[in-house]
Amino acid sequence: MSTRTFRIAPSILSADFARLGEEVRNVIAAGADWIHFDVMDNHYVPNLTFGPMICSALKPHAKTAAGAAVPIDVHLMVQPVDALAQAFAEAGADYITFHPDASTHVHRSVQAIRAAGCKPGLVFNPAAPLDVLDWVIDDIDLVLIMSVNPGFGGQGFIDSALRKIEQARKRIDASGRDIRLEVDGGIKADNIARVAAAGADTFVAGSAIFGKPDYRGVIEAMRGQLKG
Ligand code: DX5
Ligand code: ZN
Repeated sequence: MSTRTFRIAPSILSADFARLGEEVRNVIAAGADWIHFDVMDNHYVPNLTFGPMICSALKPHAKTAAGAAVPIDVHLMVQPVDALAQAFAEAGADYITFHPDASTHVHRSVQAIRAAGCKPGLVFNPAAPLDVLDWVIDDIDLVLIMSVNPGFGGQGFIDSALRKIEQARKRIDASGRDIRLEVDGGIKADNIARVAAAGADTFVAGSAIFGKPDYRGVIEAMRGQLKG
């Protein structure tokens, strides 16, 4: 299992959209490490969520009780990528990931996210190969493996993602760079240990957390599973 520090990144896609600021504060108080921001444009994926203005509005709430900033992990399920990536960088995003098949010039999009002061990453859909990593592994800070097809929360974990996580872990370790390996979709307390054993260190969970009354109980159950 990876010796890295684990990170739990609740996805606000499953939060109460009528109380997003309160939901962000509550899930951080319950132990969340990052806030995962699922941006959907009803073009790249058949769903529509929120834009950079919501990121700006929530940024002040993404803080611990002690006032420490909590990273906002923006997952762009949009096409094209570059203009929205720039807008989210200006809106306070910390990490910005995008799907390589949604960008005409992947390396340039990675460079632009870094130039805007954010940490860039690539997202791999369930049937997407990792090959493009060979040419940008030295330029990214995050690899996001989709264990569901992008567009909706509450779906079932796709087991073949475990093999891809293992492959991504090998590529990251071979690079010698400090790149986080995040998994997104269908993560629950009862499967997170398998996902970590495959090599992941950062875990997106939407419905597993926001679908339950006790956010802290779920996050602590997940951390308990990660202790192994
Ligand atoms: C799906 C999103 C995921 C999703 C995860 O397109 O990228 O982040 O919200 O939701 P759960 O944890 O409910 O599968
Ligand atoms: Zn996501």
